[in-house]
Amino acid sequence: MHIDILTLFPQMFPGPFGASILKRAIDRNMVSIDIHNIRDYTHNKHHTVDDYAYGGGAGMLLKPEPIFEAVESVKKQGVEVLPVILLTPQGRLFSQHIAQELSTFSHLILICGRYEGVDERVREHLVTDEISIGDYVLGGGELAAMVVVEAVVRLLPGVLGSEDSLVDDSHVGGLLEYPQYTRPAVYRGWSVPEILLSGNHARIAEWRREQSIQRTRERRPELLDKVKKAVSR
Ligand code: 6GU
Repeated sequence: MHIDILTLFPQMFPGPFGASILKRAIDRNMVSIDIHNIRDYTHNKHHTVDDYAYGGGAGMLLKPEPIFEAVESVKKQGVEVLPVILLTPQGRLFSQHIAQELSTFSHLILICGRYEGVDERVREHLVTDEISIGDYVLGGGELAAMVVVEAVVRLLPGVLGSEDSLVDDSHVGGLLEYPQYTRPAVYRGWSVPEILLSGNHARIAEWRREQSIQRTRERRPELLDKVKKAVSR
């Protein structure tokens, strides 16, 4: 997979992309990520990327020209249909399901909006999808783009050590993950649940399923409603 990220703050990305899963995926050529500075696609002396809103109001808007030109420039490198995603608090709410959907494409373009906004023509004529990572406000789409990239890249075949760890993830079956324990079997007098030491894999699987459901009921009951609907359909 190739990912192009358009941003006004390219210096935010090397840290998160230089560690852990993302670093490993990049080093092993399972994903390549290019960060493009939107300011490099301006033509005037001051490299202006924003301007006042027609009709007035507080805050500057990102101008359309540099964003269109940046997207057109990275698209020229290939001809396939590809998602051009604007990260914005107005987008559809990001989820494991959307991460799975995006992981099927060979190329993604992510545009990091700024909180004050983007000229509407970018939405109308350039972008194919808009994503938000939650109902709160960030200064820009950069951290959201990093969240999307990490959630998508870890789903690419071979990126994680064992494919099993994907199946058991919280949210994958619509439920939260069950409680997990490692050694020691007793720590400060607190024991690991007996069943996990039993070696009875069928009963362990059953226990984990019950724990997942119970935990989801306690913490995120609305997720359980969704699973029930999906099962009864
Ligand atoms: Cl994608 N952008 C901004 N600016 N704020 C957000 C967001 C995105 N998702 C949640 N809050």
